[in-house]
Amino acid sequence: MKIRLFKGDITQLKVDAIVNAANSTLLGGGGVDGAIHQAAGPDLLEECKTLKGCFTGDAKITKAYNLPCKYVIHTVGPIWRGGQCQEAKLLKSCYKNSLKLAEEYDLESLVFPNISTGVYAYPKEEAAEIAIKTVLKRSSKLTSLKEITFCVFDDTNYKIYQERLNDRL
Ligand code: APR
Repeated sequence: MKIRLFKGDITQLKVDAIVNAANSTLLGGGGVDGAIHQAAGPDLLEECKTLKGCFTGDAKITKAYNLPCKYVIHTVGPIWRGGQCQEAKLLKSCYKNSLKLAEEYDLESLVFPNISTGVYAYPKEEAAEIAIKTVLKRSSKLTSLKEITFCVFDDTNYKIYQERLNDRL
């Protein structure tokens, strides 16, 4: 399993699937969700409308339309409410369920953004700890996935991931 760190816009990546940090309506929003819908074009929204939303911690897959990747896995991260509302468990579920879907679709390469660390205000250090731990813990059991990329967008997350992934890159 190859683990990569990429700093920049997730919509530019030509991989099997990118993960979207969506909200439970799956009907678009700001941040990475907005960028993905913008780059994919209006057909993505049309397909998302047929999915009838998504619970926090769950994941659903769509085609990618005008994006260079093949699929988009939409997951809904928890809103940070201080840490006592199952935020950690739900964030872990986002990563687990996205990996599960990617394997079900026989995908080889997957990219995660830093789910919940923008509008949803999850503390970045803690979110990175969960993201990396959850992915690495499962990496030996994955069969189709050969490459997983953590896509960071801001300098703070870049530093956090670089330090934590140091010996894995
Ligand atoms: N490529 C990669 N990462 C990005 C991009 C991009 N183009 N744009 C933003 N990000 C990063 C942010 O810097 C942040 O670290 O994605 C991370 C997640 O931030 P948000 O997109 O705000 O997602 P989240 O915190 O999970 O909040 C979800 O925001 O607009 C919405 O519809 C979405 O309501 C939902 C909420």
